This record gives sequence, C-alpha cells and structure tokens, in this order.
Amino acid sequence: MRNVIILGSQWGDEGKGKIVDLFSENFDIVTRYQGGNNAGHTIFIGEKKFVLKLIPSGILRPGKKAVIGNGLVIDPSALMSEIDALEASGIDVRANLFVSNRAHVLFPAHRMMEKMSEGRVGRISIGTTSRGIGPCYEDKTGRRGVRVADLLERDAFHAHYDSLMEEKAAIAKLFCISQDLDYGAIRDEYDAFAERIRPMVCDTALLLNRAILEGQSVMFEGAQGSMLDIDHGTYPFVTSSNATAGGACTGTGVAPTRISGVIGVSKAYITRVGGGPFPTEALDGVGEQIRTRGNEFGAVTGRPRRCGWFDAPLMRYTAAINGFDSLVVTKLDVLDEFEQIPVCVDYRMDGRELDEMPPTVAEIEKIEPVFEQMPGWRSKTFGIDCFDDLPSKAKDYLAFLEQQTGVEVGCVSTGPERMQTIIRKGSRLEKLLF
Ligand code: GDP
Ligand code: IMO
Ligand code: MG
Repeated sequence: MRNVIILGSQWGDEGKGKIVDLFSENFDIVTRYQGGNNAGHTIFIGEKKFVLKLIPSGILRPGKKAVIGNGLVIDPSALMSEIDALEASGIDVRANLFVSNRAHVLFPAHRMMEKMSEGRVGRISIGTTSRGIGPCYEDKTGRRGVRVADLLERDAFHAHYDSLMEEKAAIAKLFCISQDLDYGAIRDEYDAFAERIRPMVCDTALLLNRAILEGQSVMFEGAQGSMLDIDHGTYPFVTSSNATAGGACTGTGVAPTRISGVIGVSKAYITRVGGGPFPTEALDGVGEQIRTRGNEFGAVTGRPRRCGWFDAPLMRYTAAINGFDSLVVTKLDVLDEFEQIPVCVDYRMDGRELDEMPPTVAEIEKIEPVFEQMPGWRSKTFGIDCFDDLPSKAKDYLAFLEQQTGVEVGCVSTGPERMQTIIRKGSRLEKLLF
C-alpha cells in the first residue's frame, strides 16, 4: 500500500505543484481534497508553463487518473476554462478526470458575498483570492449548499438554486450591495455546465477505495498550506478548508488507515499572500530581494507575495499537526546570493520562550523571532540534481533545517523544472515514493 499525502507546510505556494507533478510518476491516481480555484499550482515542463487551480497536478502525466474529491468547492466556469486550456495544450483531461458527486458547487453569488464581507467597514479584510471560496464553504457548513449531484438533477436543482439565490439577494439588499447578477441567466448557464460535467461525475470515494483495494497507489495533493488551515492556521487569516493532513481523509473518503505517509513541502525561506501575522517577514530591502529572485508573485491574483526567513518554530508546529515523515525543501537556489541567511529558531513573547503556536492574531503579532545566522554559500545551486554537488554550506543549511524541525529533508528542489530536483538516497521520502 502506497498512499501518500503531499501538502504545504507554510502559507501556501511552497512549490507543491512542481513536486506533485514530479512524484505523480510513481502513483496511479492523484486527488485533490480541499480548496478550490483559490489554488495556483505552477508546473514547468520544458518550455510549457501550466497553472493548475482545480485539477490535480497529476493530470499532466498521460494515463494517470486525477480526482477532484468531495472536500472541494467547484466553480464550474473555472473548471471548464481549465479543462479547455489543458486540452488545447494536448492534455487528455476528460478521459482521466473524475469529479466527486459530493463536492460543492460555487456560484457567482458567492463571489458577491465575499466582496461584501471583504469590503465592509468594521469587518476584518482577509485579503482573499476573491474567488468566493469562503462563502461557498459557508453554505456547505450551513447545510444549504448545492452539491455536484444536486446540480445534475435539473428540477430539484432549480428549486434549490432559486431559494438559495433568494437568500443571497435579500442579504445583498439589506447591506446595500449593488447586484449585477442575472440569477436566471446564471441558472441556465449552470444547467449547461451540468451537462458538460456529468460524464466525469462519480462517487470518487468509492473509486479511490476500490483502486486502493486493487493495489493501486494514490497521492493526495494539498492546496494552500498548513498555516492557512481553517482550524490550525492563523485564524481568521486562513482559507475556509482543512489544508492539513486530516483534510485528505475527510476530503476524499479514504480512511487514515489507508495512508502510508505524509510529506510536507516548504520553501527554503517562507512567503505569504494576503493579510495576517507573519513573524519572520523581511520588511526591509531583503524581502524585496527574495521576491525578485524567487519571482514571488501570486499565481492566481498576481499579488506580490510577502517574503521572510525560514521559520523553524512554525515548521515544528506544522510537522506536529501533520505528522510529517519527510520534508521537500524547494527554491534553495533563490538563496544562492545571500551572504548570511537568518533562520528563526525560537519564538519569544513578553520576555519568555514560547513552545507553542499562540492561537490569536494579537499574540502572534507580538512574537519576537530569535534568529540564528547561517553562512550563505554564494554560489549557484540552480539546477543541481545530485546532493553531493551542492556547496557544503548549502548542505549545512539543510542539515540545520533538519535539526531545527526534527524532520528529514528527503528532497531538495533547485529550480522550477522536473529535473531540477534531488531525491535523497536512503531517505524516508524515497521509501514512500518507490
Ligand atoms: P504551489 O501553489 O505550492 O504549487 O506553488 P506556486 O506554483 O504557487 O509557486 C511556486 C513557484 O515557484 C512556481 O512559480 C514554481 O514554478 C516555482 N518553483 C518551484 N520550485 C522551485 C525551485 O526549486 N526553484 C525555483 N527557482 N522556482 C521554483
Ligand atoms: P496554493 O494552493 C497562497 C490565501 C489568500 C488569503 C487567504 C484566504 O497555490 O498554495 P481564500 O481565497 O482562500 O478565501 O483566501 O488564503 N490563499 C493562498 N495563499 N497560496 C494559495 O494556494 C492560497 N489560497 C488561498 O491569499 O490570504
Ligand atoms: Mg500557489
């Protein structure tokens, strides 16, 4: 049995897409388990660039199955555009993509509701991706959401949709939001989406569990990152789903007893998009230097990502809640030019050392990070694919991260392409993959 969860250990954009695409060679099925088209997973294959938002990164491997699990929220319009763009690039999506009949359906009204909450005076602005993700999950937990299976039953869907939109319109009116939505036309559009999605829809929990029983292997692809998890992240500056390892089970219907390992993906430094506390943020010119070297701009919204230094206490926290067996450290090459590389080794607050992640934003904002300076290697690691070829100071840096986080670094990424990767011989990660 080889069923592995791969997820972000920081605030997203760790390079999961590249890693899932690379590792998917060794799996039969790749499934997403949460989130929606707020994700942006970038993959370079030769000259071609793909940005996957809803479709699992495994789709780029011919013959591999890709599953959109029940834990996702699906904007059908975004899904259709993504399918069309991939098919235009020669990827056979429809033959390999399976969509859960229990995933929730996202409507334009969800984006309208999000605009309202993000813009309202007195409400905390999260700095979301504006894709309507939060309001769609609100409807899910509020037990009034429309699921893919509901969308396929036209008459029942119409009744359900009309009553849901009546509520949205009433709320919008109450809060004086201009509504430029034509609810009837949107309903027609969704009827058309239903017919396009129908051939791909199935009980994906059944599909995955049957495949596992037959001895096939499944990779679970996390979106966002652990610190954006609705329960364990920097609430309320989080997304609305469980990005952490537990979400892989609830978001697919595959039991924890079927999971053989969990791999965390981390940058060699750290970034965050949107608002919220960020203890190791580099607010000086150095942050700008990381942003430029790492091309740290959001794959979905194009916003500049906030950049900072590797945060070991944060990683110890996410390693604990996810049970990481191994870490993939990406974008090592981005640090090639730095003379010194600060690493946060401890948190202090009010003169005392903290050994837990504080639960509130107010407390996290008070954290004083304790940094240790690691000597930079000041030579090119870009593209190196063999561990022994790394400069010794880069190896020392990785060893320091292992020591500080308590998790092995089983894989190192030195560039955006598949081949620009090192898988360490004898690592737990190697055992999980092969
Ligand atoms: P994801 O959301 O976790 O899949 O990450 P994103 O795709 O949003 O952002 C990661 C960015 O870093 C993408 O543009 C990748 O092509 C790029 N990338 C991934 N790994 C590396 C690496 O090791 N070095 C460099 N220079 N870029 C990388
Ligand atoms: P991938 O999968 C980075 C952030 C948003 C915002 C917060 C809530 O590419 O790593 P949402 O639209 O989800 O309600 O926004 O979460 N966010 C991400 N940040 N990478 C992502 O996805 C993200 N998805 C959401 O910027 O701060
Ligand atoms: Mg991303």
